[in-house]
Amino acid sequence: MAAKTSQAVGIDIGGTGIKGAIVDLATGKLSSDRIKVATPAGARPDDVLGAVRDVVATLGIEGDSSIPLGVAFPAIVKEGRTLSAANVSDEWIGFEAERFFEEGLGRGIHFANDADVAGVAEVRYGAARGQRGLTVLTTLGTGIGTALIHNGVLLPNTELGHLQRAKHGGDAESYAAYSAMERHHLSWERWTKRLQWYYSHLEFLFTPDLFVVGGGVSKHSQEFLPLLTLKTPIVPAVHRNNAGIIGAAALAGDEGP
Ligand code: BGC
Repeated sequence: MAAKTSQAVGIDIGGTGIKGAIVDLATGKLSSDRIKVATPAGARPDDVLGAVRDVVATLGIEGDSSIPLGVAFPAIVKEGRTLSAANVSDEWIGFEAERFFEEGLGRGIHFANDADVAGVAEVRYGAARGQRGLTVLTTLGTGIGTALIHNGVLLPNTELGHLQRAKHGGDAESYAAYSAMERHHLSWERWTKRLQWYYSHLEFLFTPDLFVVGGGVSKHSQEFLPLLTLKTPIVPAVHRNNAGIIGAAALAGDEGP
């Protein structure tokens, strides 16, 4: 088992998919296949736990608590409790989620917000490595997740995907997440107009030094990042859609098994 101390498992629970892999903590690279299952419809706790169990079993680490396990979740996470539920069942609101997963999996886990862990992955192993000042990482997926990192230190649970649109009502993520592009069949150009509003607003509020754009759509960053006009440099996440897995594993590795 000693060989595993340099590795940890990350599981990233998203609005549409649950992904997991074993991560080499020295390099931040995946050292197993990336396993993906669909997020069960309604994303209720028991069903999500069942899907996470499937991922753990497919990774072959069932019953092996010598390897640290990090779980990332798309909600506010405070002291192991989920306090919001934008794209999952309302049953998660005020729920002892960390304990629930630990009991259900029969082992300890490290539990955190999905965008926050993606930020950690990009700071340690990716686009924001060595970056001074303020980095704002955004994940564009079912929702919009955000991580604020200042001089390498994460300020957790920023939830800037829920900034309100003053003139039109509604929040940023329902207007500008990747799911909004799909839902409204927007072209890259039309979607980028929405992103322009969002990033300009973030830029005005925070004067960041770097924006990092994650989420599955970041693999198509050439289609939209060059169309944005900002003062702040904006780059795709190096780990794209794996940043959640890698960051969850990295934080779990900090704590140990
Ligand atoms: C949630 C965030 C999450 C983001 C990305 C938002 O709807 O409120 O907690 O980080 O989606 O999954």
